[in-house]
Amino acid sequence: MPLSSSSPAAVIVLAAGAGTRMKSDLPKILHSMGGRSLVGHALDAATSLDPDHLVAVVRHQRERVVDHVLEHNPQLVIADQDDIPGTGRAVEQGLEAIGAVDGTVVVTYGDVPLLTPETLSALVAEHQDAKNAVTVLSANVPDATGYGRIVRDDNGLVTQIVEHKDALKLAEDTGDSTIADITEINSGIYAFDGAVLARTLAQVSTDNVQGEKYLTDVLGLARAEGGRVATYVTEDLMEVEGVNDRTQLAALGAELNRRLAQRWMRAGVTIVDPTTTWIDVDVELAQDVTIKPNTQLHGTTKIATGATIGPDTTLVDVVVGEAATVRRTEGTEAVIGQGANVGPFTYLRPGTVLGDTGKIGAFYETKNVNIGRGAKLSHLGYAGDADIGENSNIGCGNITANYDGVNKHRTEIGAEVRTGSNTVFTAPVAIGDGAYTAAGAVIRQDVPAGALAMNAVKQRTIEEWVLERRPDSAAAKAARIANEKS
Ligand code: UD1
Ligand code: CA
Repeated sequence: MPLSSSSPAAVIVLAAGAGTRMKSDLPKILHSMGGRSLVGHALDAATSLDPDHLVAVVRHQRERVVDHVLEHNPQLVIADQDDIPGTGRAVEQGLEAIGAVDGTVVVTYGDVPLLTPETLSALVAEHQDAKNAVTVLSANVPDATGYGRIVRDDNGLVTQIVEHKDALKLAEDTGDSTIADITEINSGIYAFDGAVLARTLAQVSTDNVQGEKYLTDVLGLARAEGGRVATYVTEDLMEVEGVNDRTQLAALGAELNRRLAQRWMRAGVTIVDPTTTWIDVDVELAQDVTIKPNTQLHGTTKIATGATIGPDTTLVDVVVGEAATVRRTEGTEAVIGQGANVGPFTYLRPGTVLGDTGKIGAFYETKNVNIGRGAKLSHLGYAGDADIGENSNIGCGNITANYDGVNKHRTEIGAEVRTGSNTVFTAPVAIGDGAYTAAGAVIRQDVPAGALAMNAVKQRTIEEWVLERRPDSAAAKAARIANEKS
């Protein structure tokens, strides 16, 4: 498809509707899929056309919607729709917000999330090449219920769009269901000649079954004044489908995910089970990444080549280095170095930085910690507000006691340190390079480089205690058998 078209004068994104069928306190277009709101998807597609003006028409839950769309797109022009209902009125007010425009005006919906930049620019190119007054993005659907029907003349040009309810009424009044039976539908997405649009909208009335100012009436009026009205037909029905309720939200969300997974697989990523792998739109995956089942990659997560993620892993804004392995892990705002190893059953909280070839093993929680290259935190522990030097080996069950009940303090552990199992670091405390701690040590004072720190009391063993105090117990019985053998 030639993309020789010039960028449109404006894209108007309609977002004033109430979205009642979502049954939600959250405005419909703020619901999200693939880590982005519905209106965010719509605005991104619109932005791809590089229009002179990008307009959102709002009304329902105005403040929340406006806050959100301006955060998503600070250049956006906000147009408020008044009490007159209908898509025609919405576009009219969108135009009023930017003043008279020459050139192409594109209209899209805030609740149609799968529309791609490619289809939009193909619509604009077709519109401009054919010198149309209006070009409608249409589709042939198995069930046209709810949609406006595209009515064509003998030359295949569009004469009018008849709304679903009006088509049914017409069939009832005349006994002729020809129009109601049409399966080519109006997607609601169009390219208009800006001057024709402004002129014809001024003539549109609310004289119809729904008492609304229909944008679709513009087509008949444009044609009546001699303009050419045609369609650009898309084969991809999902691209023009809107979200009206939560079943459609889930269905289109799954379709978006299927498309993203397909794109990544084509780019050289192995996704073992695409149906249980969820990838947000802003995630980046390198070639030869492997993703195992039940994995969710969210936000700006970025995975380097050769890394293996999953199974059962959720990463939010996590950066994973080349050839690293991350299994059964939940991580947020963490950095995992090249060749490093995380999991299973590991919880990485914000600020965790694991150096190259390092390890955070089973049942570990980490937060705000810099772990040097090759350092290992293999099993059962908590490391928070700490620095751990290169190649240090943190024993099983070590804890940084970082919180004194009021403030958080840091633990600084040097390079090549070896800590015994169940060491507790009572922060603030520092351990020098190459120091050791004994099993069960509670470190309250700094340990110099190369020292061994221990503070466990000498073990006391009371012989025969079980046999005397618990003579009838299974333990005592086992002890007697052991004593007889020896
Ligand atoms: C509209 C079209 C119909 C098309 C269908 C595709 C008209 C008259 N009809 O149907 O031909 O097949 O879309 O989905 O245009 N909106 C506003 N302000 C309003 C009314 C709607 O901003 O006053 C916005 C909604 O938020 C939504 C979009 O316009 O994003 C479409 O509104 P909706 O009511 O769903 O469309 P229909 O009128 O049923
Ligand atoms: Ca709709």
